[in-house]
Amino acid sequence: MVVPLSPRDALTIARIVRVNHAGEFGAIRIYSAQITVARRLYPECVPVLSEMLEHEIRHCTLFRQAMPSRKSRPCRVMQLWSGGGWLLGFLTALLGRRGVWACTAAVEATVHHHLDDQLHFLAARDEELHALILSIREEELAHLHHAEQQLVGEDNFAKALRAAISVATNILIWLSTWGDSVRMARALRQTDLSH
Ligand SMILES: [Fe+2]
Ligand SMILES: [Fe+2]
Repeated sequence: MVVPLSPRDALTIARIVRVNHAGEFGAIRIYSAQITVARRLYPECVPVLSEMLEHEIRHCTLFRQAMPSRKSRPCRVMQLWSGGGWLLGFLTALLGRRGVWACTAAVEATVHHHLDDQLHFLAARDEELHALILSIREEELAHLHHAEQQLVGEDNFAKALRAAISVATNILIWLSTWGDSVRMARALRQTDLSH
């Protein structure tokens, strides 16, 4: 820790870790469902999806380890992320390879957006967590770029699917944290304004 944290900042940091841990868990479930479908229908996608799954498992563990010292605990409705993530990955994968990559691109873009906001907030408040998120963001960006490469020349169907998944992902984030994500975004914005 760089400076003594105000109680409000400490709470925001605890929420950041909790949202990220839930998100990584959701990503694990999405990739697991995609792999289940891809094994049968698009086996050539399995190695890269498995590599991404390994990354998400590591990210989830790292955020879990970051929790105790920040008085954070896993969110109360991990089951929602588990079922919601799996269903999202499964249904979109059934729509075809484009469904797989539209889902990955939408989810990773949402994740990237959240991580960017968090990095800004954490820079002067929690160096250790800042460094951790920075390294994780590298891998999330690689996931996003890979998915986008597969969607080059994206048709309207893929575009609409991406937009719908972005909405679904944000709803999942909101539900899994009972609105913490929105309060957190507001807190992050207020911090921006006071600087
Ligand atoms: Fe991740
Ligand atoms: Fe990812």
